[in-house]
Amino acid sequence: MSLEVEGLEVAYGAVKVLHGVSLRVEPGEIVAVIGANGAGKTTLLRAISGLLRPSAGRIRLDGQEITGWPPERIVALGVIQIPERRQLFASMSVEDNLRLGAYLRLRRGERKAVEADLERVYALFPRLKERRRQTAGTLSGGEQQMLAIGRGLMACPRILLLDEPSLGLAPLLVQELFRIIADLRRQGLTLLLVEQNARQALRAADRAYVMEIGRIVREGPAAALLEDPAIQAAYLGGASPTLPGSHPSEVAAYARPARAAASGDASVGEHGDGRDHASR
Ligand SMILES: Nc1ncnc2c1ncn2[C@@H]1O[C@H](COP(=O)(O)OP(=O)(O)O)[C@@H](O)[C@H]1O
Ligand SMILES: [Mg+2]
Repeated sequence: MSLEVEGLEVAYGAVKVLHGVSLRVEPGEIVAVIGANGAGKTTLLRAISGLLRPSAGRIRLDGQEITGWPPERIVALGVIQIPERRQLFASMSVEDNLRLGAYLRLRRGERKAVEADLERVYALFPRLKERRRQTAGTLSGGEQQMLAIGRGLMACPRILLLDEPSLGLAPLLVQELFRIIADLRRQGLTLLLVEQNARQALRAADRAYVMEIGRIVREGPAAALLEDPAIQAAYLGGASPTLPGSHPSEVAAYARPARAAASGDASVGEHGDGRDHASR
């Protein structure tokens, strides 16, 4: 699914927070928005999801303007936001949290497809399968983040909006998370990734935007931004160390036939276009 944001302005009361933000995400891309705390990243995602109403600007999905639509209609199109504070149901089991992610689909009678997606999510996150009867509130921070993403995948997203997925995770879990993000993109999912962890986000993304106090101040291929001395100084804590090759885990069980993409029925499980992002 493609996303275009043009001249977006959002205010909280009298305080304008986004000052004409424009960006685009092409189908199958990972696009990162990096920026310091308070830059307006969450506000941007919430406006795209319809949770905040912009005072100016346009938002288009696959060319269709959705500016001002209520969040339920935007979700129904397949725009799924994974919020920064995970918003799980702490006293419910892992599996019930996952099923809740698919409640719109269950209402549409897609029970069989939902069951298949549950297995795909478990294939992607084996830890969740082991703990599927455990209540969400007793999971570790990293497991809760995996569950939040798994729940988003259960909604059969066409574009996933991830808000600071690595926040508060131990370094090893951050690595695992970004491997999963790369897997999802290889399977054809479109992702808009908001992060303060600029280095990881730029490594994972195809293109990126840099946001400062409600404005996009830079954009370009993520690899180029990663090498840019000004970006390194401001966001990467100095020069980038040489990176070891990555070892993407393959999650073949999660893949779906390519015809799903051709028919426009893009979903979590569909195949990507064969680009092996991790080997670049
Ligand atoms: N509900 C709110 N009411 C008023 N101001 C807010 C609200 N949410 C965020 N802000 C302000 O908007 C600015 C951008 O916040 P946010 O979008 O959360 O930034 P980021 O996600 O990049 O850290 C900040 O100055 C923040 O204080
Ligand atoms: Mg935020």
